[in-house]
Amino acid sequence: MNDKVTVSYFRQAKEEKKPITMLTAYDFPMGKLVDAAGIDSILVGDSLGNVVLGYGSTIPVTMEDMVHHVKAVARGVSRAMVVGDMPFLSYHLSREESVRNAGRMLQEGGAQAIKLEGGQEVAGTIRAIVTAGIPVMGHLGLTPQSVLTMGGYKVQGKDEAAARKLLEDALAVQEAGAFAVVLECVPTPLAKLITQKLDISTIGIGAGPYCDGQVLVTHDMLGFYGGHSPKFVRRFANLNDEITGALKNYKDEVVSGGFPGPEHGFTMSEEVLAKLK
Ligand code: KIV
Repeated sequence: MNDKVTVSYFRQAKEEKKPITMLTAYDFPMGKLVDAAGIDSILVGDSLGNVVLGYGSTIPVTMEDMVHHVKAVARGVSRAMVVGDMPFLSYHLSREESVRNAGRMLQEGGAQAIKLEGGQEVAGTIRAIVTAGIPVMGHLGLTPQSVLTMGGYKVQGKDEAAARKLLEDALAVQEAGAFAVVLECVPTPLAKLITQKLDISTIGIGAGPYCDGQVLVTHDMLGFYGGHSPKFVRRFANLNDEITGALKNYKDEVVSGGFPGPEHGFTMSEEVLAKLK
């Protein structure tokens, strides 16, 4: 149970049909909590941009942002495999720069693997990164870094051509040496077929129950923000209400004089005090 999760764990879990669990984290306390809960892998996702940095998409997230947050998470984790997400344009300009950026996630950040988005068009990049000794997780289906070319956050692979392309992309990612692939917003039967065809693990998010593992954005599943959440998210807690209630309670207690109480203060000798008067 306490052995560090490696790529072999992913392989074995698939063979044994043991579901792989994955969640995101972006800082030390959440990394520590997710690891302590026994989750197999922690993705320091570029969803950092949406849920922590307050951007409207993942596109503004930089390598510096990612390395900073991967470091914080890795410091809190002992068992889970930490996966650093390669941000927008960090693996497109040249092979050399892609390998260097992927290496930073391990060398500076303390991650054990990286994730990147794309299929056949990034297969050569995946191969170069794996050749450098860096485990790669692919990401297909809805790839948020391409939201502008995709025309929005939509389910992918619904018609025959798009489904065939997704399957071919998954095979290309596997052939290039990736050890796992995230399938995001893919119809359940297609995700099932891809999972059956691949030897490497599929990790689903909005891809149904037949993937080899599941991932969610922790802030979504904890209900950190109120309002609408995607169809594929189940809220396992409602932290928004919990936190808002606690903050309002604090305000009321300070205003009414209920906090701090005598038990929250420190005493000193009357004698010392008298000398000051
Ligand atoms: O950035 C992220 O959190 C992700 C997951 C949604 C898979 O890529």
